[in-house]
Amino acid sequence: MPKKTTVQDYIRTIVDFPHEGILFRDVTTLFSDPRGFRMAIDQMLHPYAGECIDKVVGLEARGFILGGAIAHQLSVGFVPIRKKGKLPGTTISQEYKLEYGEAIVEIHDDAIQPGEKILVVDDLLATGGTASAGIKLIERLGGDIISCAFIVDLPDLGGRKILESMGVDVHILCE
Ligand code: PRP
Ligand code: HPA
Repeated sequence: MPKKTTVQDYIRTIVDFPHEGILFRDVTTLFSDPRGFRMAIDQMLHPYAGECIDKVVGLEARGFILGGAIAHQLSVGFVPIRKKGKLPGTTISQEYKLEYGEAIVEIHDDAIQPGEKILVVDDLLATGGTASAGIKLIERLGGDIISCAFIVDLPDLGGRKILESMGVDVHILCE
């Protein structure tokens, strides 16, 4: 086995998941390795050294794992954005497009106060549908999005361009 030196080296590709023809970038192998996980968290945090961030928002589901670690490191609170029907309190919802059909994400309506500086975190950016719906929820609550951080970009799917066209700063560790 060649020595793993980059975050990318720890990411496994699963062929034909969840459908035939899809190459699924699986970050569980990165998360399960202590060196890989620490490298990913450190690199995701790097651009924000010295920035004032009030809260980290994680996108379900792998954004919770990364976002929790990043919030802990920054000593700030963590807020989940979840798929419809999972959050127990009063929520606001945002619809977004999937390859086939639509989905809805939600946030607690009291999770972010107007003017709070927010870092959005997820494992992977594909079409940008999930992240742009999350950004809209945060902005509807008056949050000020400092940046969005991901481990992997799938550039052919155009998510990065969509987020940048919304005026959002984006940091991604690898393609
Ligand atoms: C994956 C990934 C991102 C999203 C990216 O999550 O973790 O959240 O898709 O795709 P997009 O840019 O096209 O929206 P998924 O929807 O598979 O949900 P899960 O993490 O709950 O399995
Ligand atoms: N990995 C994880 N989530 C995803 C992927 C992938 O390759 N493609 C779309 N969402």
